[in-house]
Formats: sequence, C-alpha cells, structure tokens
Amino acid sequence: MVFIVVGVTGGIAAYKTVHLVRLLVKEGHDVHVVPTADALRFVGLPTWESISRNPVTTSVHDDVARVRHVSLGRSADLVIVAPATANSLAKMAAGLADDLLGTTLLATTAPVVVAPAMHTEMWRHAATTHNIELLRARGVAVVGPDDGALTGGDTGPGRMSEPEVIVAAALHLVGRRRDLEGLRVVVSAGGTREPIDPVRFIGNRSSGKQGLAIAKAAADRGAEVVLVAAHVDDAVLAAASGHARLEVVRVGTAAELAVAMTDAASAADVLVMAAAVADYRVARVSSRKLSKDGTGAGITLDLVENDDILAGLVSARALGQTVVGFAAETPSDGETVIDRGRRKAARKGADLLAVNEVGWSAGFETDENALTLLSATGEVIATVEGSKREVADALWDAVLRSRTSRPAA
Ligand SMILES: Cc1cc2nc3c(=O)[nH]c(=O)nc-3n(C[C@H](O)[C@H](O)[C@H](O)COP(=O)(O)O)c2cc1C
Repeated sequence: MVFIVVGVTGGIAAYKTVHLVRLLVKEGHDVHVVPTADALRFVGLPTWESISRNPVTTSVHDDVARVRHVSLGRSADLVIVAPATANSLAKMAAGLADDLLGTTLLATTAPVVVAPAMHTEMWRHAATTHNIELLRARGVAVVGPDDGALTGGDTGPGRMSEPEVIVAAALHLVGRRRDLEGLRVVVSAGGTREPIDPVRFIGNRSSGKQGLAIAKAAADRGAEVVLVAAHVDDAVLAAASGHARLEVVRVGTAAELAVAMTDAASAADVLVMAAAVADYRVARVSSRKLSKDGTGAGITLDLVENDDILAGLVSARALGQTVVGFAAETPSDGETVIDRGRRKAARKGADLLAVNEVGWSAGFETDENALTLLSATGEVIATVEGSKREVADALWDAVLRSRTSRPAA
C-alpha cells in the first residue's frame, strides 16, 4: 500500500480526478486528497471524502493539532497534482505555501507528478513553459497534457491526461523509486581546481548539477550514496541537503578527489565519475601571489599530468563493482564525439561511458543535458535527453540493466 497525496486544483478536469482517486483506492492505496479552495468550487468536499475514505482539508488551519501542513508531505510516498492549473504550477515553481497543498509540496521528499490542464494559450504561455521547465529540472514528473477537447468547445493541447495514464506513470515512479535499495554508490561531481598560487587556480566550467542529480536520483531510489563534490556551489548542493541516504565529501584538487574516491570505492557497488577532473596540475605552486614585474614579459606555467582517476578505479575494481565514466567531448576534425567516446571507452575499460558534447554554449551550467551511453565495447546502449534528473534516472536504468545482464562472477 502506498501513501498517496492527491492535490486537486481549480480546473474543470477536477471531475476526472474523482475517477483517478477511485482507481488508486481500488488498488488498495491510502489516498489523501488535498484540494485548493478553488478546486472545491468544481467538486465538493463530501465527494473527495467519500471517494478517498479519508478526511479532506484544504487550509493550513484545519486539524492543526496534527501539524497537518507538514505531516501529510512527510508521510507521502507519492504526490500527484491533477489537474494542475497554470496558477498552481506557478505557485509550485515559486515555492509558495499559502494553502495545505503548497505546504505539503514543500514538506515532501516523495516523487511528485503533475498533470497539467488548461487552455492551449495558457499552456503555451512563456510563463507556464518556464514554470514547467523549472519543475522538471527539480525532478517533478509531468504527465500530459493531451491534445483534445477543452472547456467551452475549444480543442488543442491542454487537456488533462486520462486518469489511467496518470496513475500508471505515478505508480511506475514509486515502483522504480526503491530499485537501487541495497546498493552502495559513490558519485563524483563538480570540477577540480589546481592551484597556481594562494589566490589563483586552473579550473573548469562544471557546475556539478549533473553529478548531483545522479547522486540524488540514486538516493531517492533507495541507494546509500557518497557524493564526492569538487567545488559544487552551496546552492546546487542544497538540493541534496537533509537526504538521509546521501553523504557529501568536499574536495578541491584532482589529487584530493582521487583519494576520496579510492577511500569510498572499497565499500561501493557502483562508482560514477561524473566530476570534471583537471588533466594537468601546476608543477610548482607558488607560495606567494604571482605579480607582474613591470617589464611586460610573460610567464610560463609548467604543467604536469594528473593521474587518471577513472583508469585507476577500473584497474582496482572489486568483483561485481560497476564503474561508470563520463567523457565531455568537443567534436574535432572528422571525428564525432561518439567516435572520441568509443576510443575513450576502449582506453579506460569502464563498464559504461556517458558521452556528452560540450562547447562554449553546451553541456555546462544548464539544467538540461544530452548523453550517449556506451558499453565497455563502445556499443551505444542508450541516448538520453532532458532535465539533468531525467538523464540521471536513465543512467541508473542503464546501470541496473548492465548489472543484471552481466554473467555471474
Ligand atoms: C469554469 C472554469 C474553468 C477553469 N479551468 C481551468 C483550467 O482548466 N486550468 C487552469 O489553469 N485554470 C482554470 N481556471 C482558472 C482557475 O480556476 C484559476 O486560475 C484559479 O485561481 C486556480 O486556483 P488554484 O490553482 O489555487 O486551484 C478555470 C476557471 C473557471 C471559472
């Protein structure tokens, strides 16, 4: 039995959510309906209470003794918002909490599924598009909307998906949520920095968002996770804070990252090297800040190669351990990023290599990503595109497939 909160907001499609709640109850789930005040103008409270077989409240001031404004969100294994109005999507994106649905959504760490429903113009408005992108980037699953008949005789995209479709998508998320339980996972994220002097460094543009999404997805799906974070912004790391199964180890240089990964690797089932690691470090770090000498002459920094951390982890790999590498590549003359990835896969020997194309305006700092996953033999096993969370989930699906298809050691 799954503890499910169904948020209902003020659209005509609320009548279809009565059927959705019925389907969930019939499957034996514990369903708690949280309508907005506007939703109650479409379908009344007695309907929700009798269909869900649970008390229904809409205001944070009802049932205060049980601290309902946070307890529902904390107890939930799954939250579905159907229909999700343009207004409620905007409130979710902004994190507003002026009613019970808003506080519940902020208090929960459960998967959240929204089923938008609105007129086509509202759905296509830049504000709604932006809000949906933001919610997707935070890991919210969006089901629909479909193209079809809308209120008032109009037709077009904006019709809420059918209850059966929403229920199937939502329950699939919960089912998958625990599929990494029992696995110990180490993920590196961010970009290393190699000092030049006390105030300068050689770094890279990795924000750590993809690595963090991979770590968070694994923890959400039940794994015990160590995240080795190289210069990941506090604002990015905040998405992982408070997660019971996610420990963060902060590192600075490639050498520190190597030590942290090697330490954590011995107890791990899966290693994911998503961090952007400096290939070179400065041979002699100046103990004092380098300054211009006024002659106009340039300076030369001697760089020495860093150890190949991924190759080191692969060669020390324990029996049954899966190692996933990342290759951020720019296409070069006559060679695609996949060709370059294949050569890297052959060289490194990781079980999976995630190849992504990077450039001046691609791959870094954004909330979206596109990856091609290669097997150790260079075969393309998946191509994924979407929010970094969606990409992270697809990566874990591929890791699970590779672990189950591998011959028993
Ligand atoms: C008859 C009627 C139908 C509506 N249908 C929708 C709808 O399908 N989607 C939507 O975003 N807003 C719809 N609205 C507007 C919302 O009810 C309104 O924006 C309201 O403030 C939403 O509040 P809530 O998001 O707190 O429930 C409708 C309004 C009326 C009067």
